[in-house]
Amino acid sequence: MGNRREFLKKGFIGGLGIVALNPLLAKGGKVRTISYRELNKLSMNNDWESIRTEFLYEQENSYLNTASLGLSPKLVVQTINESIVDLEKKGRDGRWLFKDCRAKLAKLVNASEEEIAITRNATEGMNIVARSLKLKEGDEILLSKHEHIGGSAPWLALQKEIGVKIKVIDLDLSGLKNLQLIKDAVSEKTKVISLSHLLCTTGMVLPAKEIAAFCREKKIYSCLDGAQALGCIPTDLKEINPDFYIASGHKWLFGPKGTGMLYINSSVIDECKPTFVGAYTDSDFDLLNQQMEYRTVAEREEYGTRNASIVKGMEASIDFIQAIGIEKIKKRGMELSNYLREALNEINSIEILSPSAEEYASPILTFRFKGSPNAEIVSLLRSNNNLVIRHIYEGGLDAIRISNAIYNSEKDLDRLINAVKSI
Ligand SMILES: Cc1ncc(COP(=O)(O)O)c(C=O)c1O
Repeated sequence: MGNRREFLKKGFIGGLGIVALNPLLAKGGKVRTISYRELNKLSMNNDWESIRTEFLYEQENSYLNTASLGLSPKLVVQTINESIVDLEKKGRDGRWLFKDCRAKLAKLVNASEEEIAITRNATEGMNIVARSLKLKEGDEILLSKHEHIGGSAPWLALQKEIGVKIKVIDLDLSGLKNLQLIKDAVSEKTKVISLSHLLCTTGMVLPAKEIAAFCREKKIYSCLDGAQALGCIPTDLKEINPDFYIASGHKWLFGPKGTGMLYINSSVIDECKPTFVGAYTDSDFDLLNQQMEYRTVAEREEYGTRNASIVKGMEASIDFIQAIGIEKIKKRGMELSNYLREALNEINSIEILSPSAEEYASPILTFRFKGSPNAEIVSLLRSNNNLVIRHIYEGGLDAIRISNAIYNSEKDLDRLINAVKSI
């Protein structure tokens, strides 16, 4: 609270200073907000303490779990609130808001608007990809053992339903040998390689561009799960050039809960069938003559009436992130991650699983107590020390994951380090 008061004193908040009971509203019911210019200024000055006050979170707990669920800035929550009221006043569905958000997403990931669909979450995107490809029994899908349930269950479901074969490979935790491991695992039957861009387990970054290029050369579809990458590290889809890329809006993008992104490379959309069809799918629909043609844009998966206000909120979250700058966000996350790494390196009973090489490292740091039940330790740390952290069971790792976002500070990490030392 002290910081927030300091912040208000400095006059950074658009000339409104007095905060009423509702933390989003200033006196008189006017929305209290920070401008993107001011936000940019704060980030230029590395004033992370002030940026932290732009988030609503006010628990005693240190929130180190952005990889599960990101916090949204006040600005995003305000935008959603205002949009709900506005649309209700107008009696409109707000469909036009999708176009604006899609354009911002396209810019953020360097893709064309036609290649972007707004989904409800990353899992929905992965289900769409799995079901839009014309796969058959015996086709092989390559996954890694580090994939999240949302990124892997849609493929396992296809195995149950049509008999595709799932091949699960292990990865090299240092990051160095992964491209070769992937290359060695394919066969003539491999039709899809579906891997995380940034692993939810250890935070390791995979060589996305090289994987996509290899797939293109072998005529294999490449699908990257960017649930952990979007907003966390710079993501340039023109450069990576995958066939499909899916992501969440409610993690590192700090967007509203229930938002996601699906990218379908325009070079493959003709080879896909739409998974869901409805309003926005067709280029020509005539029930009486039983006629329907599909559009060849990713938007065709945005069927039916949706919650446009959270899409407006997602647009605000992109503006928020862009005002600070993704490079800057990654740099801050790495600073925190390295601070934690240094401290944990001093503790003999701890093993760090996240890669140390800059090329493969991210703001996520995962570690475990050697030979101890880490799931229980996570419960202890959560309940006794006010730490919001996540146990990693995926891939049988039994480890502890720490997410370092811009609203975290060295103070959060000191609390974690002291708690870890006391165990
Ligand atoms: C790599 C990965 N893929 C998919 C998901 C699922 O995300 P969502 O809840 O947006 O569907 C997660 C969530 O943690 C994840 O880490």
